[in-house]
Amino acid sequence: TGAFTYDPGFTSTASCESKITYIDGDAGILLHRGYPIDQLAEQSTFMEVAYLLLNGELPDGTTLEEFKTTITRHTMVNEQLATFFRGFRRDAHPMAILCGVVGALSAFYHDSTDIMDPQQRMIASHRLIAKMPTIAAMAYKYSVGQPFVYPRNDLSYTANFLRMTFSVPAEEYEVDPVVEAAMDKIFILHADHEQNASTSTVRLAGSSGANPFACIAAGIACLWGPAHGGANEAALNMLREIGTPDRIPEYIARAKNKDDPFRLMGFGHRVYKNFDPRAKVLSKAAGEVLEKLGRNDPVLDTARELERIALEDPYFIDKKLYPNVDFYSGVILSAIGFPTTMFTVLFALARTTGWVAQWNEMIADPEQKIGRPRQLYTGATQRDYTPVASR
Ligand code: CMC
Repeated sequence: TGAFTYDPGFTSTASCESKITYIDGDAGILLHRGYPIDQLAEQSTFMEVAYLLLNGELPDGTTLEEFKTTITRHTMVNEQLATFFRGFRRDAHPMAILCGVVGALSAFYHDSTDIMDPQQRMIASHRLIAKMPTIAAMAYKYSVGQPFVYPRNDLSYTANFLRMTFSVPAEEYEVDPVVEAAMDKIFILHADHEQNASTSTVRLAGSSGANPFACIAAGIACLWGPAHGGANEAALNMLREIGTPDRIPEYIARAKNKDDPFRLMGFGHRVYKNFDPRAKVLSKAAGEVLEKLGRNDPVLDTARELERIALEDPYFIDKKLYPNVDFYSGVILSAIGFPTTMFTVLFALARTTGWVAQWNEMIADPEQKIGRPRQLYTGATQRDYTPVASR
C-alpha cells in the first residue's frame, strides 16, 4: 500500500496551479497578482484588492465604481436570517455564529447558483463579499444584545461595516477616517494567502461541486483554529496575560520548553522563514493608529519588547520564527474597540475575497477534479468477524 508520497501537513505538495498569490517565504515576499503586499496595503483600498484578486487586474476608475456599486447592492441579507441568529445562545462565539449563518446562506441561494456558469459564480462571489460584513456585524450585535444595524449604501465597504458594528439606536457611530483606514489596511493584509489551510479547505469542499456558500462555511470552520486564524485572538490574549515587559522571559522560557505545549502566539509560520511582510506593515500601523487615536495601550510595548527579545534568542533564530500577521493586528483591533472574540471573524471577512477568488479559479480550471488524497494504511490486516457473545 505504499505507492503514494507520504506528506503529512502537505509541506511539499502543490495541490493546484494558481495565478492569484505568490509567496517567497525565505525572502519574506508576498504578491497578489504580482503586486507587493506592502504597496497594496499602503496605497490601495480593500475594494480594489478584492477586485484584483477576483479578476486578475487592478480596476480603472469606472470599473472600480461599478464594482463598489455591485457589492453595495448585495449587502442586505434576507430578513429571515435574523430568526436564524436568534436560535444561537446569547454567549455563542461569533465564529460559531458566522460559520452557521454563512452555511445557511446556501439555503437561500442554492437553486440560483449554477457553478458551471461563470456569471453565476461571479454573483455568488459578490454576494459573499458583500454580505460578510453584514453577517459579521450581526454576529457582534447579537453577542452584546444590541439590535441589528442595517447596511447604509452611501458609506464605503469598511465604513459601513464599522457603523453596523458600533452604532446603537441611541447614538449614531461616526466613522473616524483614521479607524476606517486602519480597518481597511487590516482587511487588505488578510485578503489572501495562497493555499493555506482554510483556502485549501474551500477548494477541497468546492472540488466536489458543492454550493459555494457551504464551501465558504467550511473555510470559516478551518480558519477558526488557533494554529490558523484563531491566532490573532490568542496572540492578544497572550499579550494581555503577559501584561508587563518584565514577565516576558517567563513566557519565552515556556515557549522553548518542549514539555510545555505553550507557543508564542503570532510567531512562526509554515511558509515564512523570515519576517512576515504583513507583520512589518502592521507593526508600523499599530504605532501610528494608537498615536492618532491618542491611545496608550501598554500591550504595544509588551509586543515590541517580546519581538525584540525573541528575535535575539537562539531558539527563535535557529527555527526561523518571526512575528506573523496575527502578532500586531490585535493591538489595532483592540484600539478600534473590537473584543478579542471578533478578531477571527474580521480575518474571515477579509479572507472571503481570497476564498472566492481561489474557488472561481479552481472551478474554471479545465484540469480540475475532485480533491481526493490517498493514505498510508497502518491499521489491522484482514480478519474475520466474531459475534459479540464470543469476544
Ligand atoms: N512558539 C514556540 N515554538 C514554535 C512556535 C511558536 N510560536 N512555532 C513553531 N515553533 C517550533 C515548534 O515547536 C517546532 O519545534 P521542533 O522542530 O523542535 O519540534 C518548530 O518550531 C517548527 O514548528 P512546526 O509546528 O513544525 O511548524 P509548522 O509549519 O507546522 O507550524 C505554525 C506553523 C504557524 C502552526 C506554528 O508556527 C505555530 O503554531 N505558531 C503559533 C500560532 C500562530 O501564530 N499561527 C498563525 C499563523 S499565521 C496566520 C494564519 O495562518 O492564520
